Amino acid sequence: MQHNPGHPIGVFDSGVGGLTVVRALMERLPFENIIYFGDTARVPYGIKSTETIIGYAGQITEFLLQQNVKLLIIACNTMASVARQTVEQIASVPVLDVIEAGARSTVGATKTKSVGVIGTPATINSNSYARAIHRHDRDIRIFSQACPLFVPLVEEGWLDHPVTRLTAQEYLAPVLAEHIDTLVLGCTHYPLLKALLQELVGPAISLVDSAEAMADITAALLEETSFANPSQGAPQYRYYVTDVPLRFQMIAERFLGRTLPKVEIVKW
Ligand code: DGL
Repeated sequence: MQHNPGHPIGVFDSGVGGLTVVRALMERLPFENIIYFGDTARVPYGIKSTETIIGYAGQITEFLLQQNVKLLIIACNTMASVARQTVEQIASVPVLDVIEAGARSTVGATKTKSVGVIGTPATINSNSYARAIHRHDRDIRIFSQACPLFVPLVEEGWLDHPVTRLTAQEYLAPVLAEHIDTLVLGCTHYPLLKALLQELVGPAISLVDSAEAMADITAALLEETSFANPSQGAPQYRYYVTDVPLRFQMIAERFLGRTLPKVEIVKW
């Protein structure tokens, strides 16, 4: 298949959380066509086994390649942690992922070289952030914490709720005891908790949002490879999901930060 710069960027996630990445891409690269795939029927992935996540990631990759994407972005930290190799083996186009993007920002952000990473159990157990950060700087010390309750709390819309506050205090206590100066939000859902988390950790700790970092890396790659869309017309956005669950529209729009047009349903 011949790819050309006018083809869309394929972005995928386990559900709607990856729309935080789409939102950052739309702002940074306003002329790029984007196809989003969210596996809303099978979310959450973060508490599933590695084998299952790898199988799902392969299936989604095949689907997006059939849509003629010019680039694949793994917007899901969990899939990026355990299935990046699988995606790369199948893909005939470049692959970017949020872990690498977050790792680069982290290396630039930390001064004390003491960093906290929060994410789903699958992401934290895979040690993917530590490996990615250490590829840039081996001296950075990393303190990780799985926060499994954050995903359902965000989907419930409890972004500044006493229960979320208490949960966050509990999760963050051991990481904060290590005197970190940077905290990596290693999950698609956590940017929505940014205000609450920043308040809890205080102004001296920088929060790394990999959605923003992802948009910068994508822009750089498209420029280097001369693969930016030359058309300056209104871009096309398409959204594929595997289910439209209860309150889907409301949750999705919260992540995307704008109205979500019609979504197309994929039945495997
Ligand atoms: N998208 C996942 C991540 O970034 C969070 C939701 C899930 O567990 O599937 O890790």
